[in-house]
Amino acid sequence: MDISRRDTLGIIGATAGVALTGSALSMGSRAQNSDNQQLPKPNRPEPVPLSKPVTTIVCGYGGRGGLYGYYATQMPDTWQVVGVAEPISYRRLGAIDRHKLSDENVFLHFKDVFKRPKFADTVTIGLPDRLHYEAAMMALDAGYDLLLEKPIAQNYQQVKDLADKAKRLGRIVAVCHVLRYAPYFVQLKAVIESGMIGEVVSIQHMEPIHHLHFSHSYVRGPWHVERDSTPSLLAKSCHDLDIIHWYMNRPCTKISSHGGLKKFTKANKPEGAPRQCLDGCPAADTCIYHAGKVYVEKKMWSTHHIVTTDRSDEGILLQLRQGDYGRCVYQHNNDVCDHQIVMMEFEGGATATFNMEACTSYGGRRTRVMGTKGDVVGDENILDVYLFDKQQSIRWDVNAQGQDLSGHGGGDQRLVVDFCQAVSKGDDSDLATRISESLASHEMGYAAEDSRKRGGQVQVLRR
Ligand SMILES: NC(=O)c1ccc[n+]([C@@H]2O[C@H](COP(=O)([O-])OP(=O)(O)OC[C@H]3O[C@@H](n4cnc5c(N)ncnc54)[C@H](O)[C@@H]3O)[C@@H](O)[C@H]2O)c1
Repeated sequence: MDISRRDTLGIIGATAGVALTGSALSMGSRAQNSDNQQLPKPNRPEPVPLSKPVTTIVCGYGGRGGLYGYYATQMPDTWQVVGVAEPISYRRLGAIDRHKLSDENVFLHFKDVFKRPKFADTVTIGLPDRLHYEAAMMALDAGYDLLLEKPIAQNYQQVKDLADKAKRLGRIVAVCHVLRYAPYFVQLKAVIESGMIGEVVSIQHMEPIHHLHFSHSYVRGPWHVERDSTPSLLAKSCHDLDIIHWYMNRPCTKISSHGGLKKFTKANKPEGAPRQCLDGCPAADTCIYHAGKVYVEKKMWSTHHIVTTDRSDEGILLQLRQGDYGRCVYQHNNDVCDHQIVMMEFEGGATATFNMEACTSYGGRRTRVMGTKGDVVGDENILDVYLFDKQQSIRWDVNAQGQDLSGHGGGDQRLVVDFCQAVSKGDDSDLATRISESLASHEMGYAAEDSRKRGGQVQVLRR
């Protein structure tokens, strides 16, 4: 389903290193790609062995909560799950079995966790977006450090309240901005920090979501209605605003945005299509989003978010007959943007643009960083770094580094390790995703949304 990098770079109009087209080469400005050149090594402290594992209570043992639970089974000396709050019985029972939990540490609702005196080092919040704020406030009050899924909360005021409370109480809060731990993004940060491309003048960044991924998560799935979750710019792309802010390393001063919902609307509904795909849709043979095809016949997407104890094809089909995942993607109640652009200005005059795009046949972030002494083109696998004075380009491929890249490019597990190091030391100064850091990118996200809803009006960010 993916297209090649060369095609992709062609689509986004990139010209870098060996991906140069014939006509661009004829401009004669670039020397041969230099494979033996090393890029600067990221400057991250190595994790040290812990005297005892950091314990956690997982609130929301779904996709993310379950993943953090899985890491406990992989790193028992580092990370241990000692409690769970989860209303869906098969998930709760799965957690009990996996972590050998005692009855008094198992809850149906996260609120019940905090009726007990503190019984773990940390709380992991893997709850739906709309519950983050209440759960996180309760957990901080109860004395826990937090591993908190993004987006932090449903509006900027809540984000700020949480950051303020964490600071006042001296709690460690790691926000799950996993890209900050993924070797590819870390290497790009090291290139920028080294100064080899000079001062950053501008960043162009894009998140191509893939049309099928978007239809699953943001038309049928948990993030399709803003009121119940967050705007798609936050739900999907707060990582990207965070990365842009991290690379810029200075405050964003102005922001504006345009965007909306264009593809997944009633205007594009096939003639005669019923509300549920399985109710005899006349477009069943041609519609790529037909639920039976996506989830059962061709298994084009995971069924994890479809809640049923019967995980067989028959059980899933039964859910598709009535539930959200079986509904026509053109007549759902989705209201979040399927395309959005954000324009940013940073202190000192550097600029950035960001595109969130559902209508793509490929995923993976695309980034170009333009500096005073060089530039970088990246596609989440390869970085092409070009140095103006040397007329030389350096290619770096994350897949050739021999690192574990599973789970968000290798970010998921490294986040847990980093969090455990900070909690164990009682010091978050080396933590890459402190809530105080995420405050800025969440402010950017919510200000961009304000701008979009005001027809693109520029929002001035004061800090
Ligand atoms: N860091 C990332 O890259 C990343 C990726 C995907 C999702 N997320 C975020 O992680 C969070 C969870 O997403 P997910 O995909 O795991 O969703 P999910 O639906 O799989 O999991 C959420 C779980 O919370 C449970 N829950 C609901 N109400 C509860 C309550 N009152 N008490 C206890 N548990 C309750 C649900 O039953 C469910 O099992 C969301 O905020 C999402 O935006 C982050």
